[in-house]
Amino acid sequence: MDNKDEDIFKFKGYNFLRALVSMDIVKNMEDYEIRDDDIFIVTYPKSGTTWTQQILCLICFESHRNGTENIATIDRIPSFEYNIHKLDYAKMPSPRIFTSHIPYYLVPKGLKDKKAKIIYVYRNPKDVLISFFHFSNLMVVLKASDTLENFMQRFLNGNLVGSLWFDHIRGWYEHRHDFNIMFMSFEDMKKDLRSSVLKICSFLEKELSEEDMDAVVRQATFEKMKADPRANNEHIIKDELGTRNNTGAFLRKGIVGDWKHYLTVDQSERFDKIFHMNMKNIPLKFIWNINEK
Ligand code: A3P
Repeated sequence: MDNKDEDIFKFKGYNFLRALVSMDIVKNMEDYEIRDDDIFIVTYPKSGTTWTQQILCLICFESHRNGTENIATIDRIPSFEYNIHKLDYAKMPSPRIFTSHIPYYLVPKGLKDKKAKIIYVYRNPKDVLISFFHFSNLMVVLKASDTLENFMQRFLNGNLVGSLWFDHIRGWYEHRHDFNIMFMSFEDMKKDLRSSVLKICSFLEKELSEEDMDAVVRQATFEKMKADPRANNEHIIKDELGTRNNTGAFLRKGIVGDWKHYLTVDQSERFDKIFHMNMKNIPLKFIWNINEK
C-alpha cells in the first residue's frame, strides 16, 4: 500500500518514513542476524530515543564519556531501520547498539532468543503528541499539519510515521515475555536521571565508578545535550535532512506536561477517553505532570 501524497509507506500494517527508510531494509529486517550481546533501544517516535541513545553512548563508550573522541551518537548507535549514514551493521564491533521504532512483530527473529537486550522507553502520549506535532512541522521529510487538531486526528488514527501509539506500546508490553526487555519512562528519567542511569547499567550488567556515573549524568541533561554537537542532532536535521524554517530544534523543550500549554480542555478530555479505552489492562505507570508522585 502506497500513497504518494503521504510521508509514509506501509509495510505489514506499520508506517515507515518514506524519505529515510528503504523497502529493502524493512523486507529483510525480520531475518537480520542478531548477536547475543546486541542492545536495542526501542521507542515510539518522540519518546526519548535520542536521550537514551546519549545515555547508552556515555555508559558504553569511554571515549564518548571522556570526550576524547568526537563521534556523533547516531554513528555509534545507529537507527536500525533509518540507516542514514549507510553503515554496514555486520562490520560493527560488539556490543552493537541500535535505536528502533519498529513494532514487536517486525523485529529480527533472533531477539526472541532472549539474549540480546531491549530497552523500551515510553512517554506520556499527550507530550509525545505535542513533541511530534512540532517536529512534523519542522522537518521537510515529515508531513506538516496546519492545526494541532488535525495532527491530533492523525495521531489518534495512527495515520503517521510510527502508526498508532496505542498499538506500539500495547504490542511491546503484551509480548514482553518473548523478549529480554526492560521498560523505562521518559518521566522517570526526567525526575531522577541518576537512578535511571543506574537502572540501565544494572540491566546491561555494567558497573561504573562514582566518577564515571557523575560524568554520564552530567552529560545527559537536556541543557548539556542541547549544547553537545555529538548529541543534539542539529547537523542531521538542519544540514542533512532539512528543516522548513531555522527556528526549531530537535531538543525542543524536554519537559513533562508541555501538553497543558497546547491542548484545550475538550481536546484533553477526548484524548483521555481514548487513552482509557485503549490502555485498560496495561499496568504501566504514566506521569502526566512533573509534580505527580
Ligand atoms: P520535546 O519535543 O518535548 O522537547 P526522540 O529522540 O524520541 O525523537 O524524542 C525527542 C524528545 O525528547 C524531544 O521532546 C526532546 O527535547 C526530548 N529530549 C531529548 N533529550 C532530552 C534530555 N536530555 N532531557 C529531556 N528531554 C530530552
